[in-house]
Amino acid sequence: MEKLLITGNGPLRGEVQIAGAKNAALPILAAALLSREPLDISNIPQVRDIDTALQLLQLLGCAVERSATDLHIDSSAVDSVRAPYELVKTMRGSILLLGPLLARFGEADVSLPGGCAIGSRPVNEHIAGLAAMGARIRIEAGYIKAQAARLRGAHFSFDVPSVTATENLMMAAALAQGGTVLENCAMEPEVGDLARLLVGMGAHIEGAGSSTIRIEGVPALHGTSHRVPPDRIETGTFLVAAAATRGDVRVTHTEPDFLHHVLGKLEQAGARLQLGPDWIRLDTRGKRCKAVNVTTAPYPAFPTDMQAQFMALNALAEGSATVVENIFENRFMHVAELQRMGAAIELQGHTAIVQGRERLQGAPVMATDLRASASLIIAALAADGETSIDRVYHLDRGYAHIDRKLAQLGALIRRG
Ligand code: EPU
Repeated sequence: MEKLLITGNGPLRGEVQIAGAKNAALPILAAALLSREPLDISNIPQVRDIDTALQLLQLLGCAVERSATDLHIDSSAVDSVRAPYELVKTMRGSILLLGPLLARFGEADVSLPGGCAIGSRPVNEHIAGLAAMGARIRIEAGYIKAQAARLRGAHFSFDVPSVTATENLMMAAALAQGGTVLENCAMEPEVGDLARLLVGMGAHIEGAGSSTIRIEGVPALHGTSHRVPPDRIETGTFLVAAAATRGDVRVTHTEPDFLHHVLGKLEQAGARLQLGPDWIRLDTRGKRCKAVNVTTAPYPAFPTDMQAQFMALNALAEGSATVVENIFENRFMHVAELQRMGAAIELQGHTAIVQGRERLQGAPVMATDLRASASLIIAALAADGETSIDRVYHLDRGYAHIDRKLAQLGALIRRG
């Protein structure tokens, strides 16, 4: 199995270009199922989850043309509504196919995603929302089997603000009969971006990005073109890597507005930041960061997808801090691996108490999920000696060419 080998090599320096956001691109690909007309999508990130999503679309009968970061998807000849376990189990985002398949074809047969390294991740909100819109849903042999001649608009309030459930219901409601009001919605930028795509396809949607979204269903949607916005989590990951190595890095092709909380925490840690319209420069030359408390919560608060990276930063920082994980119940798998590198972290339920250490030591460690991998890379870049990170396939699911990009910033990193 492929590993990443990293030798701590001092500060990261230079410029790095951010790719399109995986978590914005996945719902966009699902939305291609909503219309007979094609979508042209640019700035698609070259990551494994996108490959999996495209494989699923092709299995359903979509024609896909891909060149580097551009995609043309034609779903006029879709002849299956079944998303099989073999693919769904490798990517939970596949649940996003449920709403569009049901809305356009009147039925969907999507595997339940099953377990996940970061928590149980139920899909009850997706199912309850679609049921409120008139779908008949049963779980049979591990599959969600949903049917509805035509979904009808409904008033639905989420018990928890789920990102993909909000996206699923927004897509379903776009083709439903009548109006839908969704309350307690996720407000992540990816939801707002999906709404912009859907409006470009002829949907009537207001309020996406706030907690209440109103959708007036239309009989059909048309094709359009769309650019995937920059990946805010990749941006944050490179900034934290720069801070942990006392480096000076400018990230470009990004969107500083999406990162309000993360940038605030980096400043609190002592980093000097400069922001442009689509770039951020972080300078921590010669400076050890201070430990900062972080508490994850739905957007616009501090994102769970940046928790592991800040854990690594705190492990190397001056002082101590707490890291509280409120979104996923099991998202501390990186802690035991960081401890193998000498990190002083104590776990108390969903709180980690981190006592910063001047140095960490390279060690063989194991990646357990996408963001945990990023945290181990950050620790390894700043550690003494060599770290080998096993199970790097987790990393390739969501970071485009991260080893190449880090090498460009001066890191000693290779696959082995
Ligand atoms: N939840 C339920 N019932 C549901 C759905 C969610 O109880 O039906 C709970 C979850 O258990 C969790 C909370 O709601 O406690 C929020 O989860 P959410 O549904 O928002 O997560 P998601 O939509 O499955 C997306 C991202 C994740 C990211 C989370 C939180 C995509 C494809 N995935 O997942 O991204 O961590 O939102 O921001 O958009 C990653 O990129 O590494 C990643 C895991």
